[in-house]
Amino acid sequence: MTSSALPLAITGVASGIGAATAALLSAQGYRLIGIDRTVPTDFPGEFVQADLSTPAGVQQAADRVIELAPKGLRGLANIAGVPGTAPAKTVLAVNVFAVRGLTRALAPHFAEQSAVVNLASSVAFLWRAEASKCAQLTLATDQEAALSAALEDAGILENSYLFSKQCVRLLTEQLSAELLPKRIRVNSVSPGPVETPILEDFKKDHGRDKVDSAAELLGRFARPEEVAGVISYLLSEQSGWVNGTDIRVDGGLMAYRGSAVLTATQ
Ligand SMILES: NC(=O)c1ccc[n+]([C@@H]2O[C@H](COP(=O)([O-])OP(=O)(O)OC[C@H]3O[C@@H](n4cnc5c(N)ncnc54)[C@H](O)[C@@H]3O)[C@@H](O)[C@H]2O)c1
Repeated sequence: MTSSALPLAITGVASGIGAATAALLSAQGYRLIGIDRTVPTDFPGEFVQADLSTPAGVQQAADRVIELAPKGLRGLANIAGVPGTAPAKTVLAVNVFAVRGLTRALAPHFAEQSAVVNLASSVAFLWRAEASKCAQLTLATDQEAALSAALEDAGILENSYLFSKQCVRLLTEQLSAELLPKRIRVNSVSPGPVETPILEDFKKDHGRDKVDSAAELLGRFARPEEVAGVISYLLSEQSGWVNGTDIRVDGGLMAYRGSAVLTATQ
């Protein structure tokens, strides 16, 4: 069986970017195994209901995916995520530990040339400055202990979503290195604000004016389909030499804000 006949696992399919990505990949001929805590109204493939906020939930999801894909998988899209309005422990568990746990649990079942895509965020662009703090989570062997330690850090509590996505950027490089010998690529996508249900929570978390000013500048928010296209590219053979990196999909928002800061300081 060629790897293209194997299914691809995808999380977060009940809403937003995950649902749009599933629709696109299905139209492109992928066989899909979707995972979400919420049952989607219409999913183009097999579906596994699982809560990815605990190691047991992640393991249960992985076990079921492996059962549904006895000949292996062609990749994984880690799209499920929660905003900073959720408890910080849940934010870090779903946005960081579920990405790591599911990728590692499924990795032995990936065919050669498989690809993994993680959802980061454009807000995490300065992640390298926080890399050593992130490493305490991404390299942790004891998830509960690492979460307890993180929750004692006022900075992380204050900005749990931002921190979780900084961790995703580091985790993407680490998983890329870990899976390189198996010829499995791991990349991330960093969207700016996208018109999905999570956006309202971002407005509450990051400040309504800040989020709305992005749409004023750009003319609109991104559509989930515009992020799905980049995820699809990173999963495909066309991106065969793209590995361990990130693609920002923000309509130019961060470039604009970065150059505005530079201009103001000249
Ligand atoms: N929308 C944006 O503006 C934006 C910007 C940057 C990054 N992102 C990231 O993109 C990803 C998708 O976001 P979205 O905009 O589609 O949001 P969304 O809220 O529309 O979808 C998130 C999905 O994740 C699922 N999910 C959440 N917690 C889960 C859990 N414990 N177990 C299983 N499934 C769970 C939800 O049920 C939902 O279907 C997230 O990782 C998000 O952080 C979104």
